Amino acid sequence: MPNLAYAPVQPEPLSARNFARLASVIQEASGIKMPAAKKTMLEGRLRRRVVALGLADLNAYCDYLFEAGDYEAELIHLLNVATTNKTDFFREPAHFDFMTKIALPDLAAQGRRTVKIWSAAASIGAEAYTLAMVMEEFRRTERGLDYTILATDICTDVLAQAAAGRFPKAMIDPVPMELRKRYLLQSRDPAVQDVRIAPSLRAKAAFARLNLMDDHYPVDDDYDFVFCRNILIYFDKPTQERVLANLCRHIRAGGYLVLGHSESAIGVDLPVMAVVNTIFQKV
Ligand SMILES: C[S@@+](CC[C@H](N)C(=O)[O-])C[C@H]1O[C@@H](n2cnc3c(N)ncnc32)[C@H](O)[C@@H]1O
Repeated sequence: MPNLAYAPVQPEPLSARNFARLASVIQEASGIKMPAAKKTMLEGRLRRRVVALGLADLNAYCDYLFEAGDYEAELIHLLNVATTNKTDFFREPAHFDFMTKIALPDLAAQGRRTVKIWSAAASIGAEAYTLAMVMEEFRRTERGLDYTILATDICTDVLAQAAAGRFPKAMIDPVPMELRKRYLLQSRDPAVQDVRIAPSLRAKAAFARLNLMDDHYPVDDDYDFVFCRNILIYFDKPTQERVLANLCRHIRAGGYLVLGHSESAIGVDLPVMAVVNTIFQKV
């Protein structure tokens, strides 16, 4: 007879019905597709929330979400769990080269005083702070060109981390050494594993929650650069098209829409023309 006292306790799996309910809510609220292949991933990620709420299992969580709890408040947590927040400093560096070599010199030549940038799926802020470093470097020779950065995301957990401006040391490998010296603060204490963004850079970026699924985005309509990278791939085609059309409403004529390496606006009816791979200019 097996010794049941030592048998590992198998967590109760999410029922197929409850997975379907969660998947449907997640897709409707955030645009993120949740096919059956993602069930194990979602179960794993949700377990911490189940423990935090003191619930028995994932199915009890669904009862809590749909019946017992404050649905709107809990939905924010569910979407935090559903999002994939992978990011890096200087991710897809060709985009920053394009800014430095082509777009920014052009704006400076036009006599522009302020460049407005929106990082529209910002995650923990590596993209926004990369943009701040790029702008600071450009301003070393073009002092007259100031800038603002708005960084938004649906996930409140990543926004809190982004605003704190603290990153694990392992993340700063892609930041060139000179820029690390200028814009990152490293503790002399080897026990401190985090690197901090210099306060002058942090002051340049504002972080806010914004759901790209919303019909209207409460942000300015004259951005010079909208970065919306590595998020459209999680959406279905109609959602991608709707989000792209909405984003374009917030770019000034001549401004740029910058997408992730496997994303495109080609074939979508938008007021943009392709400039180089994954960079589009509003016409
Ligand atoms: C994979 S990260 C990409 C981060 C960064 N743009 C980059 O390329 O490194 C995608 C981000 O999009 C966010 N996201 C997912 N759905 C969203 C939505 N409906 N509205 C706004 N942000 C969303 C996620 O929370 C996540 O932080």
